[in-house]
Amino acid sequence: MKKLIIINGPNLNLLGTREPDIYGSLTLNEFLETVKLKFADIEIHHFQSNIEGELISKIQAVGFSYNGIILNAAAYTHTSVGIGDAVKAITTPVVEVHISNTFAREDFRHQSFIAPNAKGIIVGFGLQSYELAIQSFL
Ligand code: DQA
Repeated sequence: MKKLIIINGPNLNLLGTREPDIYGSLTLNEFLETVKLKFADIEIHHFQSNIEGELISKIQAVGFSYNGIILNAAAYTHTSVGIGDAVKAITTPVVEVHISNTFAREDFRHQSFIAPNAKGIIVGFGLQSYELAIQSFL
């Protein structure tokens, strides 16, 4: 059975209440339940942290054994050399995802320290971005 992990960065624990016009009204748990049902033949793990170092440690911990990482590093995407280096250091392929179309937003969201070492990037399809990323590993 394929083993994937969704890793979510800062403020994504507030999905459902945070700026619902941008990020939708489903909570993270509601969304994860539907994803796990939809992709029942894959082992889908999830990790969320608001702390940069915890995200790096998780990427390192899963990054040599899992089949894929779906990474929404949220604001750290645009600032974190450390998360970018972690993605470069591991062997598990990483798909970078964003719920919103970051290129249609402020200039600072156009920069990604993850993208140069990602297998691919899925941006702007709402929560469906995660499902498209999962499909890319099937
Ligand atoms: C985000 C986009 C980021 O710019 C922002 O900081 C987030 C969420 C997205 O999924 O659209 O927190 O990664």
